[in-house]
Amino acid sequence: MSTNDEPATVAAVDAAALQDEALAAVAAASTPAELTELHTRYLGRRSELKQALRNVRDRETGMTLNAVRERLEQAFAQREAELERAALDRALASDGLDVTLPGDELAVGQLHPTTQIRRLVEDAFLGLGYEIRDDREVETVEYNFDKLAFPSTHSSRSPRDTFFIGDDVVLRTETSPSQIHHLESREPPVYMVSIGRVYRRDAITPTRFPIFHQFEGLAVDGGITLADLKGTLLHVMRVLFGDDRRVRFRTHFFPFTEPSIEPDVSCGVCGGAGCRMCKFSGWVELGGAGMVDPRVFENVGLDPEEWSGFAFGCGLERSAQLRFGIEEIRPLFSPDLRVLRQF
Ligand code: DAH
Repeated sequence: MSTNDEPATVAAVDAAALQDEALAAVAAASTPAELTELHTRYLGRRSELKQALRNVRDRETGMTLNAVRERLEQAFAQREAELERAALDRALASDGLDVTLPGDELAVGQLHPTTQIRRLVEDAFLGLGYEIRDDREVETVEYNFDKLAFPSTHSSRSPRDTFFIGDDVVLRTETSPSQIHHLESREPPVYMVSIGRVYRRDAITPTRFPIFHQFEGLAVDGGITLADLKGTLLHVMRVLFGDDRRVRFRTHFFPFTEPSIEPDVSCGVCGGAGCRMCKFSGWVELGGAGMVDPRVFENVGLDPEEWSGFAFGCGLERSAQLRFGIEEIRPLFSPDLRVLRQF
């Protein structure tokens, strides 16, 4: 009856070999997918072991094969856990967040030098109780020239000096029209500053550019004098340029002020020794100023006997040049950040 004994014997021998082979394969598996494939091969429904189990006829063989199955299931579970842990370790090592590493540096922006001047001017005048206003850049001839008492023959009225948009419409050549707009919209006393862009058909030089910014001031009250104007200008210049610069006032002429003066500041580029910025004079003209002309009061319906006032208009770029020591105006209109970062 050797045929009866044979399956058990064969199964027992096969089982031991099978177990060794399977254990070796499981130990060598390096991915979960590989492990799943091995599981199907050694323990799946159609595996040698499962088929042998289905054909078992005696208890001993059954116990042997079941022991192998259990041993293998255990080995699979163990290897699966090992692979999971290894995967987690790898993920932790590669995705880890090291809170001690220095962070990415953020590029910090800075204000354009002209904007820095604008804010200084605004702060200074807000501190003096002035109102800030903003007016149109496209202006009528009436407001840009007529109401400011420019004579009909004044050279600024020529298209050679001024950008005309129509017969009676220009790109404003100065912020002074704000004086008229303000006096037409408010009852004095008024204290206002208007800041913005102005346009002139000028050739580019170290200090001139066809577009630039001005700050315009106007104070109208009872009994305002030239001393108030000088004190106010001196205060603003101290804010913009510090206490060390020297300031002087020269007499001048403007159609809308009488008397008129021009404030000069000692050159901040060369310290007064002489350079292209100050045309080798040591002084830079900052703008114009004066006492509001009676004709301007009349043009806005105010009685010059009742009111007096002063006005001034200064360049922002020129102020920036003096404050930061920039010999040329052009970099202030450059979009190149490498240039602007220097100030
Ligand atoms: N508007 C003049 C200019 O651009 C500057 C100026 C002079 C403004 C006298 C004033 C002033 O307010 O009173 O050249």
